[in-house]
Amino acid sequence: MKEILKQAQLGKYAVGSFNFSTAETLKAIVLAAKNLNAPIIVSTSEGEAEFVGMPEAVALVEAWRIGTKLPIILNLDHGKSLEKIKKALAAGYDAIHFDGSELSYEQNVAKTKLVVDYIRQVEKTFDRQIIVEGELGYLRGSSSLHKEELKIKEEDLTSPDQARDFIEKTGVDSLAVVIGNAHGIFSKGGEKLNLERLTDIRNELEGKAFLVLHGGSGIPEEDVKEAIRLGIVKVNVNTDLRVVYKERLSEQLEDNPEETTPYKILEPILEALREVVEEKIKLFGSQDKIKL
Ligand code: G3H
Repeated sequence: MKEILKQAQLGKYAVGSFNFSTAETLKAIVLAAKNLNAPIIVSTSEGEAEFVGMPEAVALVEAWRIGTKLPIILNLDHGKSLEKIKKALAAGYDAIHFDGSELSYEQNVAKTKLVVDYIRQVEKTFDRQIIVEGELGYLRGSSSLHKEELKIKEEDLTSPDQARDFIEKTGVDSLAVVIGNAHGIFSKGGEKLNLERLTDIRNELEGKAFLVLHGGSGIPEEDVKEAIRLGIVKVNVNTDLRVVYKERLSEQLEDNPEETTPYKILEPILEALREVVEEKIKLFGSQDKIKL
């Protein structure tokens, strides 16, 4: 599992992490990865996991792994409570993102360390490998469409010094950084990456942790490419898929008012989602990175 991110670090590309809460969204993500022979991370937030079910998500992903022979990583995205994290680990998730970014720095360090210690114990006891991601900085927004203007403040950004200290004190494998990114799509714009800040963070960390970019929807493509060139190895995307899902579903229902067969209604949605994921995989440079 960690090897997948290591390879991305060496090859200067990023692995896409795509959120899902329904079987057809997961299918679209996996088919895109299969078509492009790309490593892939599939994620559920706490809310998405609640809907799809953690053991069910694990079973679905395992079935796709067997069916496609792809090394699909299942990740708990923005896990906020140790209770949910324990449930995800017990169900069989491969990666945990603990998001303590709303806490004070000291509390974030302490809680993240607790999570890391617990996960290392699970790894030892059950001979598993689990990727742990921490988060530092204030990531604004939510995975939806925003009408207001995005205003990111200097103090929201991840501090390079704190990033080094955080990695040393917690022992996380990956770090989600705030460098001008935000959750969701802002119709008035405003998502512009501070690539100098990313360079400073990368230089401080000297490859000791994998760098993660959340809020992958709505960031100018050139910024995403440059961020990957500078060391980002995982990019999280959710809103782009949610928007396409909703728009295509509305169109489908409007255009076919008599249709009652769910798979006939959902087939074009799946295709549209697959196309979005394929575009992202190409943008992240992760196509054809699987040696079968
Ligand atoms: O963890 C999820 C991502 O950060 C989603 O961000 O909704 O802006 O694509 P996004």
